[in-house]
Amino acid sequence: MAQEVRGVIAPGKDEPVRVETIVVPDPGPGEAVVQVQACGVCHTDLHYKQGGINDDFPFLLGHEAAGVVEAVGDGVSDVVPGDFVILNWRAVCGQCRACLRGRPWYCFATHNATQKMTLTDGTELSPALGIGAFAEKTLVAAGQCTKVDPTVAPQVAGLLGCGVMAGIGAAINTGNVGRGDTVAVIGCGGVGDAAIAGSRLAGAAKIIAVDIDDRKLETARSMGATHTVNSRQTDPVEAIRELTGGFGADVVIEAVGRPETYKQAFYARDLAGTVVLVGVPTPEMKLELPLLDVFGRGGSLKSSWYGDCLPSRDFPMLIDLHLQGRLDLGAFVTETIELTDVEKAFERMHHGDVLRSVVML
Ligand code: APR
Ligand code: ZN
Ligand code: ZN
Repeated sequence: MAQEVRGVIAPGKDEPVRVETIVVPDPGPGEAVVQVQACGVCHTDLHYKQGGINDDFPFLLGHEAAGVVEAVGDGVSDVVPGDFVILNWRAVCGQCRACLRGRPWYCFATHNATQKMTLTDGTELSPALGIGAFAEKTLVAAGQCTKVDPTVAPQVAGLLGCGVMAGIGAAINTGNVGRGDTVAVIGCGGVGDAAIAGSRLAGAAKIIAVDIDDRKLETARSMGATHTVNSRQTDPVEAIRELTGGFGADVVIEAVGRPETYKQAFYARDLAGTVVLVGVPTPEMKLELPLLDVFGRGGSLKSSWYGDCLPSRDFPMLIDLHLQGRLDLGAFVTETIELTDVEKAFERMHHGDVLRSVVML
């Protein structure tokens, strides 16, 4: 029998979000209903609300979540009711050209639940990133549920579902940061800080944090930055070169998503170094670079989509490292809030006051 729960919807372009009754169907074949325990507030939720992703209103927001599987549909064997899981938006298909070549973290045909959650009048909802977890319960594809050690706090675990995984993965998966590398991270919000934490975990020798806000630089230091540069006051390219023997960093991670910061990343990197773009640009942005520099400086220019993560491989591993005390995921949780506080959390996010606000259910 379908259930009625509370959830946060974005009703229309730029309209305030509100809590509504959501109808969650029983799980069909390959699906699972998850009782959500915690869900972080991410920029992408705000972009949905602003109509910046698409026009498929109303959206059921929320996608950085952890919870407990309540019920599974036919043919589901990877998870059972009672499992503690992090929800992911990369449920790999196993059959697309990327999966078949053994690169499932690039899967081009990830799946979501087939059935729709609705409002009580039958209006179909579009769940953010195929998840929709600012809700007491949500319906997902079973492959979107990744089991992890249940002793971790849900507000911490859920963060791996999106932003923090994107940042850590930008460093360890896409950037391939290794022992002894020099790393610079431009933009030290939740994603940049996660890239810093990931670089520390990977054994980077030097981690240079760049931001225009001194508060952010202070937090970056606590996450593992060895040096900080305020790029409002100091040219970051020169500062990074100076801190790396005049050469530039082996890996520069751009976690802002703007042409000017991308250029800084491009020139702050050592010859044959790597640039990782994990910040998300907007459609009108253009990048202009001398092609000779692109050629002459060698190395690789990569973008990192969801940290090139493979949830089944990365989530349990990172939770284990957290529980061992080697990765402080708790440091990303600025505040825990109620379902009714999402609009306020967007405000705080907009003002740069938080790394993550996490809704507790
Ligand atoms: N130079 C350096 N830092 C900058 C600049 C700039 N020109 N402009 C903004 N910043 C800093 C901000 O001060 C802030 O600390 O970038 C950081 C951005 O952080 P958040 O707004 O908290 O965003 P975050 O959640 O970290 O996401 C960063 O990744 O996933 C994408 O959509 C997301 O594009 C966004 C990026
Ligand atoms: Zn695939
Ligand atoms: Zn997100």
